[in-house]
Amino acid sequence: MNVADSEVVYAIMEEAGYARTSDYKQADVIFLNTCSVREKAEQTVRNKLSNFSHLKRTRPHLLIGVLGCMASRAKERLLEEEKMVDIVAGPDSYRDLPHLVDNARKNLCAVNVQLSLEETYDDIIPVRVSGNGISAFVSVMRGCDNMCTYCVVPYTRGRERSRDPQTIINEIQILADEGYKEITLLGQNIDSYLWYGGGPKKHFDKASEEQKKNAVRFSQLLTMVAERFPMLRIRFCTSNPHDMTDDVLDAIASHDNICRYLHLPFQSGSNRILKHMHRGYTREEYMALIDRIHAKLPDCGITMDVIAGYPTETEEDHQDTLSLMCYVKYDFGYMFKYSERPGTYAAGHYPDDVPDDVKQRRLDEIISLQSEHSAQRNRSYIGRTCRILAEGVSKKNKEELFGRNPQGIVAVFPAEGHTIGEFIDVEIIDATQGTLIGIIKK
Ligand code: 5AD
Ligand code: SF4
Repeated sequence: MNVADSEVVYAIMEEAGYARTSDYKQADVIFLNTCSVREKAEQTVRNKLSNFSHLKRTRPHLLIGVLGCMASRAKERLLEEEKMVDIVAGPDSYRDLPHLVDNARKNLCAVNVQLSLEETYDDIIPVRVSGNGISAFVSVMRGCDNMCTYCVVPYTRGRERSRDPQTIINEIQILADEGYKEITLLGQNIDSYLWYGGGPKKHFDKASEEQKKNAVRFSQLLTMVAERFPMLRIRFCTSNPHDMTDDVLDAIASHDNICRYLHLPFQSGSNRILKHMHRGYTREEYMALIDRIHAKLPDCGITMDVIAGYPTETEEDHQDTLSLMCYVKYDFGYMFKYSERPGTYAAGHYPDDVPDDVKQRRLDEIISLQSEHSAQRNRSYIGRTCRILAEGVSKKNKEELFGRNPQGIVAVFPAEGHTIGEFIDVEIIDATQGTLIGIIKK
């Protein structure tokens, strides 16, 4: 999400006459686009900022801005806490950045952390800076209304609002014209996408009959994109199990160019903890969803997020997490220790009472189980042929390309005259825990 947002920021700054440098030491303005989801992410930003202080000493006119979730969370306090920061801009105030830079130059207030009910940057065509020219992110909604108790996102990124589908199609058309081969539709809670031309999702009840009739849900958006761009590979994330509906699975099943891949965070396998977290589903409902995914989308790649050591988590709760992992056998997981985030419901109501050594041990157990599952899953591809989109040249061997299969697993194979951007049928002959090894199918 931050990569996509940074591309919007580049577009806004270019429009205002600024140019980009690839060497930050040459820059007159440096923006750090930040994440607050865990304490560690914020610590990384603080370390980066302190590295910039020497730069500021040698280049006194240099301006440093903190963008994104940390800006929303710390607001004006950031200017006091981090002396080298000149500009603070939250995720909904990027249009104001050129003005904030001017203000900072004049020593005026350069803070805007106002959250919006409408802003989706839908008319801005991002400047693609971070990719390989093959694969791009397209943001389709912003914010989240789910209010999971541990999560800072609803406070830092605001209420859920969806982007006009026509502007999404326009942006993808430009990418297709430029030769992109794959797009990933992005939203914090993408299955909750709902465009009706009337602002934030929470006001949908007040929409006119006409607006309700013409509303576009996520499965419809996905279908529109897949049918309009049959030559593109389409991915999306992130799905909240509570909001994922079967019509989305049906839309994937009916379109070959939508990847059989779902990122479906479960967070915990314990019903008691899931309820505590306000996740809105039980372990049994989650398992039933997994069963429906397997039935409708045989061979679908499934990845997850999980949190170890949420407040009050017992050994039994942790065992429930491990057993749910054994039920699903995820392809891959993003696995975290609970990190108390100031301002969240959990921080206000439940002490962070699982000792760090216990959290770490539980996380280690989760990681080692996931490693086994990833290795098993990758080995199951040996002998099969996968359609790989070549994304780059292997770092280890210039004669080899790497790319992903529809399930999102990376494969490495000898190039044999093929180049980046091609879809290639690759026969898998070996596998490690992280990578498939293949040869081109003759
Ligand atoms: N502590 C640990 N992990 C968290 N996540 C979100 N908030 C926290 C927190 N306070 C994780 C969740 C989410 C992912 C993006 O980050 O697993 O799905
Ligand atoms: Fe955070 Fe829950 Fe929203 Fe995901 S669904 S962004 S975890 S509040």
